[in-house]
Amino acid sequence: MQAPLKIGICGLGTVGGGSLRLLRDNADEIARRAGTALRVVHVATRRPEAAEIDPAIRLDRDPFTVAANPEVQVVVETMGGFDPAFKLVAEALKSGKHVVTANKALIAERGNELFATAAGSGAVLAYESSVAGGIPIIKALREGLAANRIEWLAGIINGTGNFIISEMAAGGRRFEDVLAQAQSLGYAEADPSFDVDGIDAAHKLAIMASIAFGIPLRFADIHTEGIRALTPEDLAYAAELGYRVKHLGIARRGGPVVEKGVDGVGHGVELRVHPTLVSENWLLSRVSGVDNAVVVKGHAVGTTMYQGPGAGADATASAVVADLIDIARQQRAGATQPMLPPLHYHHVGPNKLGETAAAEVPLVAMEDIESACYLRIPALDRMGVMAKITRVLEQHAISIEAVIQKEAQGGAVPIVLLTHAAAEGRINAALAELGKLAEVVDSIGRIRVAPFADGT
Ligand code: HSE
Repeated sequence: MQAPLKIGICGLGTVGGGSLRLLRDNADEIARRAGTALRVVHVATRRPEAAEIDPAIRLDRDPFTVAANPEVQVVVETMGGFDPAFKLVAEALKSGKHVVTANKALIAERGNELFATAAGSGAVLAYESSVAGGIPIIKALREGLAANRIEWLAGIINGTGNFIISEMAAGGRRFEDVLAQAQSLGYAEADPSFDVDGIDAAHKLAIMASIAFGIPLRFADIHTEGIRALTPEDLAYAAELGYRVKHLGIARRGGPVVEKGVDGVGHGVELRVHPTLVSENWLLSRVSGVDNAVVVKGHAVGTTMYQGPGAGADATASAVVADLIDIARQQRAGATQPMLPPLHYHHVGPNKLGETAAAEVPLVAMEDIESACYLRIPALDRMGVMAKITRVLEQHAISIEAVIQKEAQGGAVPIVLLTHAAAEGRINAALAELGKLAEVVDSIGRIRVAPFADGT
């Protein structure tokens, strides 16, 4: 066997602590798979006095001592956040150390810079654990599906949100009530906005889309909606129509897009995170609780699905250690790879500046994306109200697939509609007009239907 791969871990919280434990408890098997021992030689933690680790491992409070340690070949960043994680990862990569990180916010928002740094020094920046915890979705996209033109992917990529929606649907409970339960169970943070407002899912979608479509990380451009506006009534009405509501991240090749200031026409990519009606015939609709699942459609393989725990110490450590084993194998082969997204821009030829600039890969504007929609319109129970509503929809060329009118609730009746696919811009205009009708007494609920005809 070769000399051990020497590892430094920065951050000994859930993921860092879990990774240290897994490396210790499954050391023999891991060494067999890697072809070399994976040895942790240095750990940095905010509370070194509380760390129960092998006394042979150097222990510090300052993570930069790990990045600067000449013995350390791979830095595992499990601190989270941007400060000091960005500086730490950038310094480690610049000095040629490989980095394994579980930090999805860091990769999604600063990854373009970090990958450039990694490419400059030839270091590996690996991030399997940043998306969907223990599910090896990065490896599936990079390796297993590498022969495919990825047509779309859609995922339940926030376990906290999935738990909340599942509980709301099962018990007819309101969002706030289930959120409080999720907080008491430790799934949701005291400030739950990252999870329930879709930011965490958008981070993960940006990362998956960059690999699937060979585009740079475009977190800031993702249309992002959370789950706060969902009601148990919506979930029940959706079920009557044959659907379950899931909070999905969706990345899909769209139609041709002409971008301002850029020569040529590219095929746009849709990037969006929002509650979505998923047909109950899809396996994806049945993934409940804190589990994650991602469905990927490749042109050759067809539709594939990956399901499993999206968080938790052991599951996430499984992904961190898989990256370490990968690096050990690459080193043995003498061919480390920076793990950049394989950029293959959608533009044919340069832009007006003479560059095929990464930022100019076209995204389909949200208002041009076509979706069928579920609408819940709280209206007065008066003669002619249905006619008025259908007239507004007709004026915006939106056709109706199904209608259910529920019994009156406190003087208003929820009119529940399923539309055929229509561009977002047209739906928005119709909703604005419907909201002005005197008979519409409360805000209108809208949930887009998943845009995939075939399911798994
Ligand atoms: N907070 C995340 C979730 C877990 O609920 O899925 C880590 O990404």
